[in-house]
Amino acid sequence: MSRGGHLKISTKKLFNGIIMEIEKSLILIIDDNTNNIQLLFDVMKTHGYNVLVANNGDSALNKVQAFSPDLILLDIMMPGMDGFETCRRLKADEKTKDIPVIFMTALTNTADKIKGFKLGAVDYITKPFHQEEVLARVNIQLKLRNLNRQLQQSQFQLMQAEKICSLGQLVAGVAHEVNNPVGFIAGNLEYTSNYIQDLISLLNLYQIHLPKPPVEIIRKVDEIDLDFLLEDLPKMINSMNLGIERITEIMESLRNFSRKDATEKKTADIHQGIDTTLMILSHRLKPNKVFPKIEVVKEYGDLPEVECYPGQLNQVFMNLLSNAIDAIEEEIKVSKSSIPQIRINTALTNNDSIKISIKDNGNGMSKEVRRKLFDAFFTTKSEGKGTGLGLSISYQIITEIHGGSLECFSSEGEGTEFVIHIPIK
Ligand SMILES: Nc1ncnc2c1ncn2[C@@H]1O[C@H](COP(=O)(O)OP(=O)(O)OP(=O)(O)O)[C@@H](O)[C@H]1O
Ligand SMILES: [Mg+2]
Repeated sequence: MSRGGHLKISTKKLFNGIIMEIEKSLILIIDDNTNNIQLLFDVMKTHGYNVLVANNGDSALNKVQAFSPDLILLDIMMPGMDGFETCRRLKADEKTKDIPVIFMTALTNTADKIKGFKLGAVDYITKPFHQEEVLARVNIQLKLRNLNRQLQQSQFQLMQAEKICSLGQLVAGVAHEVNNPVGFIAGNLEYTSNYIQDLISLLNLYQIHLPKPPVEIIRKVDEIDLDFLLEDLPKMINSMNLGIERITEIMESLRNFSRKDATEKKTADIHQGIDTTLMILSHRLKPNKVFPKIEVVKEYGDLPEVECYPGQLNQVFMNLLSNAIDAIEEEIKVSKSSIPQIRINTALTNNDSIKISIKDNGNGMSKEVRRKLFDAFFTTKSEGKGTGLGLSISYQIITEIHGGSLECFSSEGEGTEFVIHIPIK
């Protein structure tokens, strides 16, 4: 099981357009001198920070991994691993490299200060400490860090919005383009049907009043099999009408799929959303020169309507299903043993929430991939094919916007299952 969370800011609030303050910041003090620790601890605590302490480099590195502090105060002179080495290791690790480090050094030691900056520290404070100065420097670095995170978050939000928007626009655009010719056919079909009825009744009149037509007409009647034609023509018109009705329904569901409902909660039929998504993806499920047909098995339970943002849930279905298709195609490239299949199971759970499971027998994923799965911009696909945003967007939509959960069960070569739980209200 894996979950996301590279970006720590509450994105829920950002969704509503409000950039919130970060929760109480966590500061890690690394120093071997108990007096220094005590002094800094008191200053930070009284000014509302959460504080962690470590009295050597090794213990510090462990604590950083476990608690992801927002800022580190790091003493240079320590027995064992010194501050420089500790800093070097922090900066070498992808997970900890962005945590700002402030060095603590003796007032006079310029060489140390320079070395600290070269290793990636953002600032230094000098011993003996002046409380006000320590606080000012810590504050400014935390503000910078928060600003940076907010920028990152806004960029993420923008890309996400654009992705949702472009799919919606594409679908809406196609629906719009198809709408005109369909209307055209539907409108004319009604007249055609009436004209044909008129012609048929005229023909009937001829037959009544001219029961003995000339030979040429008799021959023609025979040649075109008039009786069959008259019987078949209304049926044909009927099936054309059914076809048009079906196209109109499809257009309607496409319009629903792409509607702009980002700000309004509605009750919606989840199965309809999944079906429309499958329809949009149908060209990838059908067999072609390279890939065989992907079988879709629907095990739909009895679901009530769900209070949700339907357009956003459709976006989640789209992401999960296209990932499943990608994974199946990858698997087919290496082995053609099993029948490609996507299984969609839905059920009502505890009467107050629903469960949707989307399971594929594609190539599955390694532990490493599973760990990063929901991280923004994480992708194993080639450039241009994947942006690595699908699942992080889906994760946010399900957890933060709908108060639900999104879990992944998968192992390499064993296929993958994604399970969504969302409350009905
Ligand atoms: N059903 C799946 N089976 C196997 N691997 C998967 C599956 N779903 C996701 N993954 C892995 O997780 C990665 C991240 O998925 P995500 O949907 O976030 O991004 P993407 O599909 O690579 O790109 P994007 O969705 O932005 O076009 C994928 O690159 C893939 O390695
Ligand atoms: Mg994807």
